[in-house]
Amino acid sequence: PNITFIEANGQSTTLDVPEGWSLMQAATANGVEGILGECGGSCACATCHCYVDDLMAKVLAAPAQGELDMLENVADERRPNSRLACQIKASAAMDGATVRLPATQE
Ligand code: FES
Repeated sequence: PNITFIEANGQSTTLDVPEGWSLMQAATANGVEGILGECGGSCACATCHCYVDDLMAKVLAAPAQGELDMLENVADERRPNSRLACQIKASAAMDGATVRLPATQE
């Protein structure tokens, strides 16, 4: 699916993310700077915080307890649409979705 990442400074990057990849993997592999992913995707650092749009929110299952716990630790403002990009696996239904990235991850 094509997924667009918008940095806090407005820079936009659209990636064709392979199905099954996490959005954190795709962003870090393609130089999207607003996602750090320091723990490598094990839901233990909260440096892959992102804000999902309505399309993405509709496709996603509710966050698991581990993700909810880590969302307590995000560096920037936590919003109702805050998620961790390492816990989002790309699927075809997400095609055209946009995620916005916070100004800081640490
Ligand atoms: Fe560490 Fe997502 S990469 S919590």
